[in-house]
Amino acid sequence: MTSVKTEDKIALQVNGTLHELSGDPSRSLLSVLRDDLNLTGAKRTCDDGECGSCTVLFGKKGVMSCLLPVSRAQTKEITTIEGLAPLFLEDPSALNKENIWALDPLQRAFEEYGATQCGFCIPGMIMQAKGLLNINPNPTREDVTKWLARNMCRCTGYVKIIDAVIYAAKIIRNNIPVKSDSHKSNGNGHVIGSSVSRLDTMAKVVGKAKYAADFTLPGMLYAKILRSPHHHANILNIDTSDAEALPGVKAVVTNKDIPGRKDTPTGRPQVSLFAHDKVRFKGEGIAAVAATSEEIAIEAINRIKVDYEQLPSVHDPLEAMKPDSPKLYPPYQNHIIANEVTKGSIKKGFAEADVIVEGTYKTSPWEHAAMEQEAALAYIDEDGRVTVRAALHHFFPGRDWIASMLGLEKDQVRIICQAMGGNFGMRGDFIHVGVSSLLTSKTGKPVKLEYTREESILGSSKSHSYHIKCRSGATKDGRIVAWDSELIADGGCFVPIPEILEAASQVKGMATFVPGPYNIENAHIKLYEVCTNRPRSSPLRGTSMPQLNFAWDSQMDMLANELGMDPLDFRIKNAVVKEVRQLPEKFWMRQ
Ligand code: FES
Repeated sequence: MTSVKTEDKIALQVNGTLHELSGDPSRSLLSVLRDDLNLTGAKRTCDDGECGSCTVLFGKKGVMSCLLPVSRAQTKEITTIEGLAPLFLEDPSALNKENIWALDPLQRAFEEYGATQCGFCIPGMIMQAKGLLNINPNPTREDVTKWLARNMCRCTGYVKIIDAVIYAAKIIRNNIPVKSDSHKSNGNGHVIGSSVSRLDTMAKVVGKAKYAADFTLPGMLYAKILRSPHHHANILNIDTSDAEALPGVKAVVTNKDIPGRKDTPTGRPQVSLFAHDKVRFKGEGIAAVAATSEEIAIEAINRIKVDYEQLPSVHDPLEAMKPDSPKLYPPYQNHIIANEVTKGSIKKGFAEADVIVEGTYKTSPWEHAAMEQEAALAYIDEDGRVTVRAALHHFFPGRDWIASMLGLEKDQVRIICQAMGGNFGMRGDFIHVGVSSLLTSKTGKPVKLEYTREESILGSSKSHSYHIKCRSGATKDGRIVAWDSELIADGGCFVPIPEILEAASQVKGMATFVPGPYNIENAHIKLYEVCTNRPRSSPLRGTSMPQLNFAWDSQMDMLANELGMDPLDFRIKNAVVKEVRQLPEKFWMRQ
């Protein structure tokens, strides 16, 4: 049953304007700012007071608006990032560098110091810092660091943010005039060695950069995905009738409702939009709903009945390689040999070696955790095209895939990627884009799908975790003469099993990168990719390089230690750089 919400009169003083609204007084201030007042500078990320991206000023103090019920927000003036520079609130077309003078000193300092990268956390950072400068006009770096400790940034490393806050305080204390932007290159011609003016910083510091979840359209529906509560289970039946009967529900879709191609082109074409015969990880999507409100969509999801037959699951790649482990794609084994590379003879090399060291290295799967979680707004544009606004890395493959999934031509689909709140490798995930476009094509209405942080962690890909065994040998004079490695990559629940799946291994090339930038005559590298009941794996800060780097450079330290050599001298002695240095000088010099 739909829960009954009370409707109260609410009077909010925001950015100098009184707004008289009615609605549920327990809603968060953040929801009201974003959804009712279209002030989208404050971002919804954790929705739990953990990240600070939704910070606004409540009176003179920064507060996390996701935690503040709107009923309590009526007692003081609220200032959002948009309210710091009223010129841009009144006239968005004024947003250009000519008007840098109209920025608040904090916005100016963030712009001048290049303290914005993806920009998603920046409105919250600026508002939190504003609260600090309101009570302390001359903060130390330590003061700023402590004050901003509850505001997370995934991109910058915080140094430039702290620099910018210190500079903003100086601007205010000393009334420093706007710096000319002429010291920065406009990007035409000589940019090396000069400070380049970024095109998007003004929009980011005033809260006008639009991320996918910031867009709304009239008549928009809200989408939610039903996710598997099991790691591994057969799906016996899906009954959506109760959900479809709920007033406000406009569409319920499962795998059978996809008119065309049912898999996705993530570099792993076997990744399905929805699980149908079985689920292979906890959090895998089973069905999706589009409804007139988010609350109705959530209730509809809860009404879908799925009969599961639970299966034993396996989460460790070494366990998954054992003959008697649960199989994700029976009757096939869980692993493939993704690549094997041989150079020279390791038998000969180890025979020549004076010292031999062995090591086993293990890395964990990492969450990409960009501050902006997955969101997509799909709609049919004025030319009849299915159009999706989303942060997507591969938008041409994405467009082609949506067309093939919906049975359309490529020119009937358009992807628009504007601001992207961090990537780190996670923007190759297509599921949210596919689900929203499928629901739009079913209903003919705009459909917004916005993951919660929990869903983002449950449903998204992770980095490959590795078990790496290395054996390497060197001569007394510090020359590495043999290297043998076995790499076991956890590919998560989707691995290209040649007999049934067409995809190439995503990590295949990694066997050719080991052992890094070192010139070794005799080497053998064997790489396995393994299926486990985890979300699929994907690149993070480069496909597998940090993981492999950890192993091979640990080996280098051990070899240097055995030989009593300086680790840096040992590396230089074996580095490929020797050959590179022999290249003609003109290779290095600009003509
Ligand atoms: Fe802070 Fe990207 S700039 S999260």
